[in-house]
Parts: sequence; C-alpha cells; structure tokens
Amino acid sequence: MLVVGNWKMHGDWGSNAQRLQALHQQWVAQPSVTLAVCVPSPYLGQAQQALQHGVVAWGAQDVSAHAGGAYTGEVSAAMLADFGTRYVLVGHSERRQYHGETSEHVAAKAQAALHAGITPIVCVGESLAQRQAQQTEAVVLSQLGAVLEALGEQALAMVLAYEPIWSIGTGQTATAEQAQAVHAVLRTRLRQHGAATVPLLYGGSVNPSNVAGLLAQPDINGALVGGASLKADDFLAIGQAALSAAAL
Ligand code: 13P
Repeated sequence: MLVVGNWKMHGDWGSNAQRLQALHQQWVAQPSVTLAVCVPSPYLGQAQQALQHGVVAWGAQDVSAHAGGAYTGEVSAAMLADFGTRYVLVGHSERRQYHGETSEHVAAKAQAALHAGITPIVCVGESLAQRQAQQTEAVVLSQLGAVLEALGEQALAMVLAYEPIWSIGTGQTATAEQAQAVHAVLRTRLRQHGAATVPLLYGGSVNPSNVAGLLAQPDINGALVGGASLKADDFLAIGQAALSAAAL
C-alpha cells in the first residue's frame, strides 16, 4: 500500500515544519505501507531535512519533460533528485486543466522522472460531464495508453492514480464500487502491457472516515490525498487505515 499526500499550493515554512515533524515522529516503519508527501518544490529541501533520517518519503507535484536548458520556471527531474525526491506527480488534473498538459506531455514527464530515478505517479481521471456521457473508461484508457506507449517496459516502475475530477476537493468521494470499477479497467490494461503489479491509488476527497472502504477493494492499492493530507492527524489516520487494510 502507498499513501501519498498532495499538499498542492498550500503551506509555508512554519506550518510545513510542524506537519513534517509530526509525520516524522509518529509514523513508524511498516513493511506493508509507504507514506509520502508531495510538497511544493521550494520546500523539497525542507522536507528532505525533516524526513531524511526517517521512513516517510517525499515527492514533488510536477516536473519538466526537459533535461535542462532555457525553460524559465521549469524544474528538471535531476534537480528534484538532488533533494532526495522519491516520487513526482505527473498529469494531475489541475495541471492538465490549468496548464494545458496533454497525455503525450504527461508521458514525457513520466519518462523524464524515471530517467532520474524518480517514481512518477501518473494521474488519470474523467470530468463529471465525461462520466455522465459514459466516457469514463475511454478517457482514462486514453490517458493511460499514451503513458504506456511512451514508457514501454519501464511502465513497471510507475505508480498510477485514478482521480475523478468531480470528486477532487468536493467532498464527493467516488463510492468504493465506482472506484473499483475503474481500477479494474486500468488493471486489465496494465496486465495487457505486462505491468499488472503497478500500484493503483485512488484520489478524490479521501478522508479518515471513507478510506477503509476504498482500500478494501481488490484493485485499490493506496490513496492520493489532498485536503486531508494538510492535517497531520488525519493523514496519519489514513496511513493507519492502510495498515489495517494491508493486514486483511
Ligand atoms: P482532495 O483529497 O482534496 O479531494 O484532493 C485530491 C487530489 O487532487 C490529490 O491529488
């Protein structure tokens, strides 16, 4: 199981320090569950300093597809790796929506991350309109397909996150059955690609009360948590629920 917090563009030095310290002190090494936080890039050094002697991993929220050069404002995978970054989100719906990232662009970012030894957490998910038009499967399969095509065998080293856009930050979690149905489709596609072991995370209004039902599903291997990851107690409770689910 993998439980990843996505802090998005929240926090500052002081509040980060408290949250990181709480995670570092309270999360005990567990073979069955990995806990990680994806922080805003300027705070990667702070996360590294706070977490490097413990078991909580840290990651970034985006990466450039380019290795280096005249790309003002971009951050390369090698730069992230310099700060001990283990994970990077690619293709989060907020990046696709507000920054026009296409699935091909997302695939190039995943490739860049892997090249630097960082695990890309590739995010896919449909909008409410797409769900209502029965396009969910087609949308997520097309988003995943572009990445599988670009990565080839390297796809085995990625993590996949299903985040329905209508469920992000809305308090409207997909039901465990809705999430499992999409995860099963994604798993089948991964299996066809020889990558059935890729961890599949669910994201979208995950909180300590609803996470157990989601993690009890056969094809849900963890959670990508936004709002609830900003409260150390809630995030740790989600980690504990993952431990219980992993023990079943
Ligand atoms: P919320 O948990 O706040 O809905 O955010 C989900 C998300 O986008 C995580 O990447």
